[in-house]
Amino acid sequence: MIMKIVFATNNAHKVTELTDFFKKHYTGCIEIMSLSQVGFTDEIIENADSFEGNAFIKASAVCRATGLVAIADDSGLEVDYLGGEPGVYSARYAGVSCSDSDNIQKLLGKLEGVPYEKRSARFVSVICACFPSGKTLSARGVCEGIILTEKRGDGTFGYDPVFYYPPLKRSFAELELDAKNKVSHRGNALRQFVSVFDLSDG
Ligand code: IMP
Repeated sequence: MIMKIVFATNNAHKVTELTDFFKKHYTGCIEIMSLSQVGFTDEIIENADSFEGNAFIKASAVCRATGLVAIADDSGLEVDYLGGEPGVYSARYAGVSCSDSDNIQKLLGKLEGVPYEKRSARFVSVICACFPSGKTLSARGVCEGIILTEKRGDGTFGYDPVFYYPPLKRSFAELELDAKNKVSHRGNALRQFVSVFDLSDG
């Protein structure tokens, strides 16, 4: 039987990364649906103080409203020099309806003059699944890197152009989707997640 899964996000880049991973892992066993396909338009208030809490808020709201298995990613960037900022505020670091460029500009401003060795940071992703039965699962993945002093590459989204991944000597914005998924926080969370996710639970 094919399991119907709703991805509880309106972020097109996250949908692309999640779909790519799930389609490869569960070829022919799942049908992925977007929020617009299931007609979900409610606003979800992500007011938890952890990635785990926000991922659960999103997945549980969509599961409850649709009666389908819902999967959400909550993610963000933690910069050591800034005591873990922007963390759960990554999407709205420069203000409620700010753009990715606004966020990057604010981040680079706060790190002006900070030397390479103090620019360590990590992306964090928590993937949460909520089942109509009430069961929930979650998995966390991280990826360590360095915040650049200026953007390198584009395409992709968020802080990718300023997140440098030393093992590949590239920023995340300079990587193909497949290469990013192999090492990224979201890829690492997803690899953990599929080791506990059971298609027969749906
Ligand atoms: P969320 O939709 O509340 O989980 O917000 C996550 C935010 O973290 C995004 O809007 C980006 O700013 C940032 N972020 C998370 N994952 C990535 C990534 O893979 N690349 C770049 N930025 C990311």
